[in-house]
Formats: sequence, C-alpha cells, structure tokens
Amino acid sequence: MSIRFEQVSKSFGSKRVLDGVSFEVERGEILFILGRSGMGKSVTLKQMIGLLKPDSGHIYVDHQDVTQLDENQLARVRQKCGMVFQHPALLDSLTVYENIAFGLKTVQFIRSAGGALPEEEIKRRVIEKLALVHLGPEILDRLPSELSYGMQKRVSLARTLAPNPSYLLFDEPTTGLDPITTNAVNDLIHDLSRKLQVTSLVVSHDMACALKIADRILVLDHGKILAHTSNELLKLSQEPLIQDFLSETLALLPPEERFDSLAGVRQ
Ligand SMILES: Nc1ncnc2c1ncn2[C@@H]1O[C@H](COP(=O)(O)OP(=O)(O)OP(=O)(O)O)[C@@H](O)[C@H]1O
Ligand SMILES: [Mg+2]
Repeated sequence: MSIRFEQVSKSFGSKRVLDGVSFEVERGEILFILGRSGMGKSVTLKQMIGLLKPDSGHIYVDHQDVTQLDENQLARVRQKCGMVFQHPALLDSLTVYENIAFGLKTVQFIRSAGGALPEEEIKRRVIEKLALVHLGPEILDRLPSELSYGMQKRVSLARTLAPNPSYLLFDEPTTGLDPITTNAVNDLIHDLSRKLQVTSLVVSHDMACALKIADRILVLDHGKILAHTSNELLKLSQEPLIQDFLSETLALLPPEERFDSLAGVRQ
C-alpha cells in the first residue's frame, strides 16, 4: 500500500466538498479520478501533498500521515510526488531549460541526491524528459510565452518528471492537447507506472483514456465515492451518472472501437 485516504472531509464555507472519503492506491497502480466539475478532484490531489489540509481524516503517503506534517516534512513528501497542475504554471521569466532544471536545483533535491548534479547531467536529464513528452532541444532557450498552450503543458510535465518522482499526480494532463500528444502522454503515464513502478493519480474527464490505461477508476460525486473499481466492473455499473459518462464516451469513439472498449454498456 502506498497511498491511503481515511475518512477525509473538506468544506469551503458551507460547501462540503469531500465527505468522509476513504480509498487506497497500491504502488505502481494507475488510479483515474473522475467526476463532474467542482466535485473535489483537484482538492483531493492538493490535499495529498499538503497544499490543502482536510478538516478531518488522515492521508497516508508511504505510511506517513501528511495531515500531521510541518512544512519541512511536507517538502520531503513533495520531493517524492510530482504534481502536474491543471494549468501549466511555468515560471514566465525562465527559459524552458531553466524551468525543467528548476526542480533539480532545489535544496530538497540536492539533499536527497546527496549533492548537486553537475550541469552536464542536468542538461542530459532535461533533454531526456523533453523527449519523453515529444519535444526537441531546439526549444530549450525559448520563454513559455513563446510556446503554444499544449507545448507549455508538455514542458510542465517534463519539469515534473525531471527529479524522477515515485508518485505522479496529474490534474487534467491532456486537456488542451491534440489527439497525438494526448496519446503520447497517456502512453507515458502507462509506461512510467509499468516500467518504473511510479504510482499515478490522474484526474481526468477522459473516460475513454481511463478505460484504456487505468488499473482502477474512482468516481467522486457530491462529496462521496460513487465507485472505486476496475475498468471492467465500472462498465457494469448501474449508477445513472456512470452510465451517462460511459454513453458520452461511446458517442465520441469511432464506430470500430465502440464494441471493444465499451462492451456491456447500455447504448
Ligand atoms: N482554495 C479554495 N477556496 C475555496 N473554495 C475552493 C478552493 N479550492 C476549491 N474550492 C471549491 O471546492 C470545490 C471543488 O473544487 P475542485 O477544484 O476540487 O473541483 P474539480 O472537481 O477539480 O473541478 P474541475 O473539473 O472543474 O477542475 C469547488 O466548489 C471549488 O470552488
Ligand atoms: Mg480540477
């Protein structure tokens, strides 16, 4: 077991966003978190690395309860957890190279690596991670403002991958990307978890992708977990919201893929 949410509740004012949510994610697993807008998906990810604190409940990462940690201890947890935010959040005044290298130059990283990496090694890693997201070294000296939104998202993903995190938290990793890059990012998530045993939590609206690469899918609705199950079992769910998600997905797929991907779903 590597991540465990135990009876986590969170409200903003009178709005209860999460109401006693509990789930576990095994090491190397890909968990997709689905739900309609405003249902607490991003809040769930942010709580895991202490960017938000639950009102009650516990969140264990590697058996350490992150709800009880101080800022220094949280910095160590964040070192293990790469978070790809919903919006690229690159530093505008830094080049692509400097943005990706940023995480390799923090005090936390240097401490955990046992010393600063030589600049040559940093450059090698930056280029390697850029290639993973299908970008070439010719953009290293560009500023974020000189890139398209999709390219910025990919650079932000490369920056997160640079320190080789054990956990990856993705918030809408493929929104705003073209279909080819979307497939590349999905393949990347799949490969990282299978080859490197990286544990991934992926917030997404993309049910088709979830059905393709997730080990398990968690559906959040009005503060509760509506489903937390394997892809195969999710397809059999009789919950109206889940049936709606599945039917919408079905309508978007090319006809030849519909039968295979969604066999068993009401049509
Ligand atoms: N820092 C905050 N302060 C106040 N309210 C917040 C804060 N963060 C989130 N919320 C509220 O909590 C609810 C859940 O937000 P969250 O961002 O988790 O939604 P989401 O499921 O990620 O939605 P989307 O799919 O649109 O990104 C929303 O009503 C949002 O307005
Ligand atoms: Mg969100």
